[in-house]
Amino acid sequence: MITINSIPDPLIECEFENIYRPSDDSYLLLDYFRRRITGDSFDGILFEEIEYILDMGTGTGIVAIFFQILKSLEPKFNPKIYASDILEESLICARKNEILNNFENKIVFFQSDLFKSFPESLRTKFNIIIFNPPYLPSSPFIKESLNKKDFNHSWDGGYKGIEVLIDFIKELKEFINYNKAHYIYFISSSNSNLVELVKQIDDLGYRNEQLEKIHLFFEDIILNRLQFVKC
Ligand SMILES: C[S@@+](CC[C@H](N)C(=O)[O-])C[C@H]1O[C@@H](n2cnc3c(N)ncnc32)[C@H](O)[C@@H]1O
Repeated sequence: MITINSIPDPLIECEFENIYRPSDDSYLLLDYFRRRITGDSFDGILFEEIEYILDMGTGTGIVAIFFQILKSLEPKFNPKIYASDILEESLICARKNEILNNFENKIVFFQSDLFKSFPESLRTKFNIIIFNPPYLPSSPFIKESLNKKDFNHSWDGGYKGIEVLIDFIKELKEFINYNKAHYIYFISSSNSNLVELVKQIDDLGYRNEQLEKIHLFFEDIILNRLQFVKC
């Protein structure tokens, strides 16, 4: 049986300036996932029931590679792992990191703005979806001073900091496997409009649980878990 300490953090390198480096939010996800792995289940879902995992907005690939490591350690955990990002450089970087961690062509990577370029064949497939989205409110000042439009994808969640996330939640309905246990994990920030986010989530038919919270200098970073409740 695997133990918490036996699942290492993936090795991560990245040559591109515009790709988000793993940070407190990325490790908040990984640390929670590690603690929720038992001998035969992940966060209460039996390993055998988890068939498709998606790491949306994969960046360097860290979350997808973490699950690939788990898959290599635990024979009963055998899902197909997908990872996507809006930025082409992210996919180049994530594929290199897959190799750096001694896996090759195991994870399916593709470029997509949220689910817009996902193939039809992936509809109603995913049990586990993870999105550490851009979650800060847009700032015209930062945008202009950085003058790097691609880097904005890492942090710019829209005017209220929640627009990208809400679009994600609207689109994901088509891709969840409702016939099996399913969880959607996402990160939010106290700097965004959380009141509106909670309302929108409810209106879209999901139940949200705040699982964990960490306090950084200017904000709380929150790990959330969604489940679809209304058909
Ligand atoms: C905060 S970073 C998280 C990166 C990585 N998952 C991690 O935890 O370290 C947000 C990621 O979402 C991607 N992203 C932003 N908007 C997106 C969209 N519309 N569709 C897909 N990916 C998007 C960014 O390019 C970036 O890689």
